[in-house]
Amino acid sequence: MYIIKLNAIDSTNTYLKDLATVSLPKDYTVVVADLQTNGKGQMGAKWSSEEGKSLTVSVFKRLLDFKVTDQFYISMAVALAITNALNCFKIPQLHIKWPNDILSSNNKICGILIENVIKTNKLQGSIIGFGLNVNQKFFENLPQASSMSLLTGVVYSKDEVLLEVLKQLKIYFKILESQKFEEIKLAYEDLLFRKDKPSTFVNSKNERFSGIIKGVSETGLLQVWMEDNVVEFFDLKEIKLLY
Ligand code: BTN
Repeated sequence: MYIIKLNAIDSTNTYLKDLATVSLPKDYTVVVADLQTNGKGQMGAKWSSEEGKSLTVSVFKRLLDFKVTDQFYISMAVALAITNALNCFKIPQLHIKWPNDILSSNNKICGILIENVIKTNKLQGSIIGFGLNVNQKFFENLPQASSMSLLTGVVYSKDEVLLEVLKQLKIYFKILESQKFEEIKLAYEDLLFRKDKPSTFVNSKNERFSGIIKGVSETGLLQVWMEDNVVEFFDLKEIKLLY
């Protein structure tokens, strides 16, 4: 394992992406930054965290013979690995909010951004970026954000937390490599936030509707049981769960 520690960088994901254009980084090349000046979130959002307080990390995972159509399994495996790591630190009431936010009760403590390196229709590797709120106590304009420390009162060693996440990532990639896809999907659905509970959503036209989350499809669509008893599948651009 190679750990590159940086004081500051625009984005650890971009750093690994740039490396990957020159030659494919070694398996489990890890980039950690104390500060990201242009951290990236999902769907073009920004990710910012207070310097030195949280973990902003990207891991390069090489992939062999992994089908492009199976890429949501990587996302599920990573979310499960981080949730398991947080369990080891006794963080309460952990859930995964589709597709891969990690929540403790209603509060987001970790965001994940996975960018896959695809060449000639084959997955060559995955850049697994995660922002884990460890010891940060203040979140500007983010009322739903929390941190491990806010939740438990403990000040954590970021290195210890990182090593546990890396350990769990290795465990979950072994499960993926042994093709136990169904096991991953069942474990993910088991932890899905608001599963089997009546919830309110908003669609891309800003219209509200009610439904019940039942699971996910193999390609990562959210499966919702609608009020008219029809089950529909949505992608990230089509639906937002309101708290
Ligand atoms: C999200 O919830 O929107 C995903 C956030 C992902 C943030 C992490 S921090 C480390 C890595 N580098 C980035 O630029 N983004 C990811």
